[in-house]
Formats: sequence, C-alpha cells, structure tokens
Amino acid sequence: MKYIAPSVLAADFGNLQSAVEMLNQSEADWIHVDVMDGVFVPNISFGMPVLQAIQQHTQKPLDVHLMITNPDQYLTEFQKLGADRITVHYEACPHLHRTVQQIKELGCKAGVAINPHTSVQLLENILTDIDLVLIMSVNPGFGGQSFIEQTYQKLTDLRQLMQKADTSVLIEVDGGVSDQNATQLSQAGVNAFVAGSFVFKSADPMTTIANLKQAVQV
Ligand code: DX5
Ligand code: ZN
Repeated sequence: MKYIAPSVLAADFGNLQSAVEMLNQSEADWIHVDVMDGVFVPNISFGMPVLQAIQQHTQKPLDVHLMITNPDQYLTEFQKLGADRITVHYEACPHLHRTVQQIKELGCKAGVAINPHTSVQLLENILTDIDLVLIMSVNPGFGGQSFIEQTYQKLTDLRQLMQKADTSVLIEVDGGVSDQNATQLSQAGVNAFVAGSFVFKSADPMTTIANLKQAVQV
C-alpha cells in the first residue's frame, strides 16, 4: 500500500481550514503535521492549538512528525489531539525504546525518524518494535529544500536490515518529494510520501495529490 501525506507546513496558515478541507476532498491518505521546537531543529513551526484546529476539520488520519527534544513530555497531549501516528527522532530520544512503548500504549502507531547523517543500522534494535521508519531526505527544519540523493542508498540499507530482522515496517520519506522522484522512491520500497511545497505551491493541489498517488502505484 502506498500513502500520500501532504505536509500542512507548506499550507497558507491564514486559510488553514480550507487547506484541510481541500485535503479531505483529495486523494491524500494522511495529513502530515510537522511540529518544530526551535531547539531540536533551527525553526519553530506550530504546536498544540494549531493541531487542535486541524483536528477539528480533518477527516484523514494525522501523521504527526515531532522535531522536538524530549517528546515524551507531550505524547499524551498529541494523542488527545487526534494523532494516529506519532514519529519521534532517533537523535532526540536517549530512551527511544521507552518512548516507542509509550506511543504504542497510547494506542498510536509509532514511527522513528532519522536525519540524513544518521545510519539506518542504528535502528537494528528498535525495528521490531515500531510501525514506521521516516527517512529524512532533507535536513529537518524547513520545507522547500532539495532532495538528498543519498536517500536511495539508505532505502537499500533499510530494506536489507528489515530482511535480516525478518520484520516489516512502513517506510516514509520526507523532504523534497515531487513528481521528479516519487516513482523512483516507490520502486525503492517507499510506502509513505510526505510532500509539502510540491503540493501546496502547485496551481492545483488536489490534482497534484492525485498525480502523485498515480505516480507511486508501481
Ligand atoms: C521538514 C519537514 C517536512 C517538510 C517537507 O523538516 O519534516 O515534512 O514539510 O517539505 P517539502 O516537501 O517542501 O520538502
Ligand atoms: Zn515532516
């Protein structure tokens, strides 16, 4: 199964309700929500009140990507705000196993994200506990950056690791995803495609989402 997860980070926050309603009407599978704290990443995006506003209008599952230090402190609140899956960063969690268990105890799917410089091998001892690996294909913090080509090697490495562990997780790629790389990423084993600028800066976001969905059915 392939999932398209438009990131509302690139939406017009002055018209957030209409952006979410557009996503409801579209072929998007999840809504990707980027929470940044200005500490783990050099940018601040939005927090709980914005997530609450999204939750009020969405009919799609919320894919919450926490780019924050000490996410453990806020997991319950994110679950209450409607998060279906919660992804934390490997680099931000000294007790990742505990964090993952907490996410699952809250009834959410658990994801672990890795930055471009972080080796997938470091996930070896957590892989069987999680539902999803998010491979950052840009450095987290900003939308609209260029896709890092090294991501393809990481996808190969991750698939090998999954095979070795005899386990399967969803693979999500985040950053610089567009019609230029979606098909190739899909062929490389990606299940979930986050796209911010490519969707929201396009003339017709709904059609862009539909085309992206088509492009990954390979
Ligand atoms: C970056 C965020 C991404 C971002 C992707 O730190 O995690 O989800 O919104 O934006 P694009 O698709 O514009 O690269
Ligand atoms: Zn993200």
